[in-house]
Amino acid sequence: MIRAVEWKEGRVRILDQTKLPGETTYIDCEKVEQVAQAIRDLCVRGAPAIGITAAYGMALAAQTSALSSPSLFQKEIEEAGALLAATRPTAINLFTAINRMKKIMEDQKGHPIPSQRRALLAEANAILNEDIDANRTIGRLGSALIAFGDGILTYCNTGALATGGYGTALGIIRSAWEQEKRIAVYVCETRPVLQGARLTAWELHREKIPVVLITDSMAGTIMRLGKIRRCIVGADRIATNGDVANKIGTYTIAVLAREHNIPFYVAAPTSTIDLGIASGDQIPIEERDRSEVTDIGGKTFAPEGVAVSNLAFDITPAEYIQAIITEKGIFRPDQIQGLKPSV
Ligand code: MRU
Repeated sequence: MIRAVEWKEGRVRILDQTKLPGETTYIDCEKVEQVAQAIRDLCVRGAPAIGITAAYGMALAAQTSALSSPSLFQKEIEEAGALLAATRPTAINLFTAINRMKKIMEDQKGHPIPSQRRALLAEANAILNEDIDANRTIGRLGSALIAFGDGILTYCNTGALATGGYGTALGIIRSAWEQEKRIAVYVCETRPVLQGARLTAWELHREKIPVVLITDSMAGTIMRLGKIRRCIVGADRIATNGDVANKIGTYTIAVLAREHNIPFYVAAPTSTIDLGIASGDQIPIEERDRSEVTDIGGKTFAPEGVAVSNLAFDITPAEYIQAIITEKGIFRPDQIQGLKPSV
């Protein structure tokens, strides 16, 4: 199984996703600043994966701290947490993971520094392992919704690369394939950063799961042609009312799915649920650099100086979503408010 991030010999090893599928290279982070930069630059991306990476970033700050005063040590780790929290605003998993690490620091107050280091690393490992377990369960539960021979449309990348391992929406697809359901997966390229073309197509293709890559603008036509029986996407944050933030373009897919009477499912661990906000309107949406839109492969295609809008995520209102598949079960969006996230 591909690992987006791991703790290796006292460092945080990140698979550089900006280089995939052409090159498999790793960034061995020795400092928390490198971890923050890797998250900002999308070397590691996907809601659960950035949460796990941030947790390891804080464990790294603890390992590398030269401070001998426990209170100054704690301050340094807190600053590392603040640095990591400022990298990307939309995925709640980032903040949930950082808060879990802060809670460990709180519990460890007054303990010797080596014990604090051990406890922080153990918590980061737990966040990773819980995510893998959640994905396996999501895969098993969600695959019950998939019928033999289904054409499935997915968006962005929700696979092993976006999580601790196995994946959410892609975990369901993997699980259905393991059950020999003979599915066909249609993957939108996912402009502007091409997570679908570069990452999802790569994950599926290397496992020999039948995949057809399409342009984002082909989604409506492929539905109209009757090739799609379900849409399954991931989430970066789910609000109390069941509205979902996910990669820009997800909303378009949901509207098209409804027009064509195709069920639209969201797969996410409960760590993606934010019961602190009432609706999707309150989810902060990241706006990224204009060059992601104007350039492809380092070459500029748009006229110099043209105005650009590059919102990285959109909100799909709950009314478009048939079901939210979590490790705790399959829910209608209006049932999310009664769910208590496990972290
Ligand atoms: O900008 P990205 O690549 O981090 O966006 C990722 C997505 O939108 C995924 O669909 C989402 O994080 C779910 S990953 C299991």
